[in-house]
Amino acid sequence: MRVAVISAEAVPYSKTGGLGDVAGALPKALKAVGVDSVLITPCYWQTKGEYLWDTAVEDLNVDWRGGIYPAKAFYSEANGSPTFLIDAPSLFHRDSIYGYNEDHERFAFFNHAALVLLKRIGAAPDIVHLNDWHCGFAAVEIAELRRWDDYSRNTRTVFSIHNMAYQGGFSASELWKLGFGSEFARNAFSFNGYASAMKAGLEASDVLSTVSRRYGYEIQTPEFGHGLDWLTRMRADRLVGITNGVDYEVWNPATDPELPANFSIDDLSGKRECKRAMLERFMLPQDLERPVIANITRLTGQKGIDLMMQVAGEVLAAGAFIVSLGSGEKRYEDFWQRLHDLAPNQVGVYRGYSEPLAHLIEAGADMFMMPSKFEPCGLNQMYSLRYGTVPIVRATGGLDDTVQNWDAATGTGNGFKFGQYRADRFLEKIYEALFAYADKETWLKIQRNGMAVDNSWENAARKYVELYEWTRS
Ligand code: ADP
Ligand code: GLC
Repeated sequence: MRVAVISAEAVPYSKTGGLGDVAGALPKALKAVGVDSVLITPCYWQTKGEYLWDTAVEDLNVDWRGGIYPAKAFYSEANGSPTFLIDAPSLFHRDSIYGYNEDHERFAFFNHAALVLLKRIGAAPDIVHLNDWHCGFAAVEIAELRRWDDYSRNTRTVFSIHNMAYQGGFSASELWKLGFGSEFARNAFSFNGYASAMKAGLEASDVLSTVSRRYGYEIQTPEFGHGLDWLTRMRADRLVGITNGVDYEVWNPATDPELPANFSIDDLSGKRECKRAMLERFMLPQDLERPVIANITRLTGQKGIDLMMQVAGEVLAAGAFIVSLGSGEKRYEDFWQRLHDLAPNQVGVYRGYSEPLAHLIEAGADMFMMPSKFEPCGLNQMYSLRYGTVPIVRATGGLDDTVQNWDAATGTGNGFKFGQYRADRFLEKIYEALFAYADKETWLKIQRNGMAVDNSWENAARKYVELYEWTRS
């Protein structure tokens, strides 16, 4: 089976969040279970030159808006599987990956160029696996092409929803110039008087998936559907949830090169050294007995920063350290800065993005808080489990599916989980975690329960293969 995975970001070429992790790792995992897969992603200004191994196509020459747009494609296997990177500098060599008024044009072009490239490089894929709104354009294009283009006739599409909150909206009057003037295309994009690339993907793809089982149900409700729940309900018989995997080649405390000391489920002693290094890195006192509660995230409303703001005072009063790595909305960046200024000996803050620091924090912290309002899957709670850092999460989406609440009576569970999106519920769980931390044996048990969990990509890749087979049948 030939599969082409198309994504706006993919590790190690580019990343702003979990989509990058997933799109980078899935093709490699597919290859490992015997699928012939290629990844297609843009070449950004942020993509390191060392990853551009070769020029695969010098003259991609994409027919675009009535002319020919010169583009190139690089080849790489830096993510462990064959990858083509579409290079169109005026669209992708910019200060940031997203956030421009013409993002819909940039990704419409990327989608079209990806399909032009596929034709150039060989036989048609059986499955084109599309990810999030950035790839809604290709879903429509393939559905249309299939009617008359022999090359595309047998290609089927799988569209993965990583986050319903981002829908790629733009003015419907732009559809014509992007090549989506047909009635079919206009209907697919049309949403509340404008055009939505997410809606187009949901409507025009053969099969839909999302990144956890629970989120698959949640997006069928008004609370989580962001206006599109009617469509996911309508297509519920074509929608499945597959929980993301973890790339244990990148996130493994036993081999992680970013850590001052490695450790594993059998010997956690190196974790103490990581904690020491992390406290030092944040210029916090070397008080190794004091618990550290950490958070690493994009600072947006989704991630429950409002709850963190409400409980921070009490957490500090309880004597814990708090460490935050993140960037995003100014009000949240300001909050962390103010908290740090208020208690510089208890709060460590790094505003920005840092992969090495993310590894050090996962290893050095005792607890990881993730009280998200909604969370399609979430990766950091799974990284935390493997690093013996106990997650404190809200029971939503993938957080609910991947974290089991600790039960002292039975000795089962690997984290702390609360239901309602309320600060008092969150704080209760933090107190419970701090109480458990005070008893070394209990804590070690919770850590080990988490470290033993297998969230490897192999399981997820097999589920995707089943899904692809079902899509083709
Ligand atoms: P989302 O995709 O919604 O941001 P996920 O939990 O799926 O959430 O994935 C987030 C990914 O981005 C993780 O790999 C996390 O470590 C990483 N990340 C987020 N913010 C930062 C940051 N400031 N520095 C380093 N890594 C970050
Ligand atoms: C999204 C979601 C996150 C998920 C990631 C990868 O960005 O917010 O929960 O883990 O995609 O699927």
